[in-house]
Amino acid sequence: MPDDPLACSAEQIERSLQAIAPFYDLDFAPIEDDLELWRQLAGGFGRARILELGAGTGRLAAPLAADGHDVTAIDASPIMLQHGTEKMRQAGVRIIQADMRAPHAMPDNLTHFDLIICALGTFQHLLTRHDQLATLRNAAQRLKPDGCLALDLTAPRPEDFEPGPQPLRLEWTREHPCLGTVAKLAGQELAEPRCAEHPLDRAAPIAWITYIYESAAQRAIARFPLRVAITPGELDGLLRQAGLQPDHWYGSWTLDPLGHGDRTIALSSPAARQ
Ligand SMILES: C[S@@+](CC[C@H](N)C(=O)[O-])C[C@H]1O[C@@H](n2cnc3c(N)ncnc32)[C@H](O)[C@@H]1O
Repeated sequence: MPDDPLACSAEQIERSLQAIAPFYDLDFAPIEDDLELWRQLAGGFGRARILELGAGTGRLAAPLAADGHDVTAIDASPIMLQHGTEKMRQAGVRIIQADMRAPHAMPDNLTHFDLIICALGTFQHLLTRHDQLATLRNAAQRLKPDGCLALDLTAPRPEDFEPGPQPLRLEWTREHPCLGTVAKLAGQELAEPRCAEHPLDRAAPIAWITYIYESAAQRAIARFPLRVAITPGELDGLLRQAGLQPDHWYGSWTLDPLGHGDRTIALSSPAARQ
């Protein structure tokens, strides 16, 4: 894999996701506070028409559809969708393999959503301003005039700006139904973007993230780039440039004020057209 994160290809990312996908639900299904937030937001629309960008294995899409909402899940990764297909189909989720940056790759009828969600730092997989704006504009076009785009990012942490590799740490040890005891190790190292087109992208903190899932039978290693730190100011500018109006900001899934938690959550509506 290249050292320059901006030179990382979709095929290389997919190879990392192949390592992660079998362990994704073991890793992230125990998170429940964010599901409560999405349930609350969706409930505000009655039976909501929801689009999830980067839905992965359907951790959120499936329970929201099971609640009775009309849910469409898009994800660029065949392997992530494959691991969630059965769960999402059973719940009635419409599944589409598509890149959230590419409006033409998505069916024309994917419009008029009450709620579009991009959860659990998925927006941070977009490394450049070009990709961030393409995704936000794509979402803005697909919202009802009174609809809401909800972005949930990891809040910037001091270690996101530290140069050099940070030591691998043991995140958890859990029981997998087939593989027995599994341990997850995680680490990150600040990357140096070189082939950036936009000057701000060269200065953006992008890190190589390493996940290792180990069981007695196998060791799966994934290494992928992530925009580890996006400040609320930067996000505010991006949203406005994409034709969205940020209405509410929160710092946690339990709706603490911005700056009082480990999340950056922005709820935006389409800016009134002139
Ligand atoms: C951290 S996972 C989140 C999955 C799910 N939203 C959740 O909360 O459990 C990020 C997902 O975003 C997807 N993704 C990343 N870039 C994407 C893109 N450009 N278009 C569509 N999906 C993308 C990945 O394939 C992955 O499944």
